[in-house]
Amino acid sequence: MKVLFVCLGNICRSPTAEGVFRRALEQAGMAGQVEIDSCGVGNWHVGKAPDARAQQAALSRGIDITALRARQLSAQDFVDFDYVLGMDQDNVSAMRQLKPANSQAHVGLLLDFAGTPGGEVPDPYYGGEEGFENVLNMIEAASDGLIQHLKRER
Ligand code: 4NP
Repeated sequence: MKVLFVCLGNICRSPTAEGVFRRALEQAGMAGQVEIDSCGVGNWHVGKAPDARAQQAALSRGIDITALRARQLSAQDFVDFDYVLGMDQDNVSAMRQLKPANSQAHVGLLLDFAGTPGGEVPDPYYGGEEGFENVLNMIEAASDGLIQHLKRER
């Protein structure tokens, strides 16, 4: 099973989701069964580490995302991954445009797995540090729901 988290820049929300979900998988004893990665719809930050505020907010919850590096979403990702999960509707629209016709991947919003269908993780880039705490809270809730879903799918 392979899960890809997608946001706009791959320096705030999706690396946070990757870090949170990696730890949730470890805690659920599923670390060896699910492969995960993150990427961005855009290419502005390719090769860069996560935003310093995202790194700090994650570290304060014991999650180290400092080694992650941004990359851009590609058509091949829809062949390689089973779940391609966006943070907001803009992400999902851009993802659907890139998805090849032969892809069987589930493409949708991460928060659909948080029991809040249609919910979006807001872009924290231009706001303050509280925005990053909000992102972490939302992603943690979705991460637990996604684990339950994957357990049922197995
Ligand atoms: P992310 O946040 O999509 O959560 O990584 C953003 C990071 C950078 C930009 C936008 C959103 N930007 O426009 O540079």
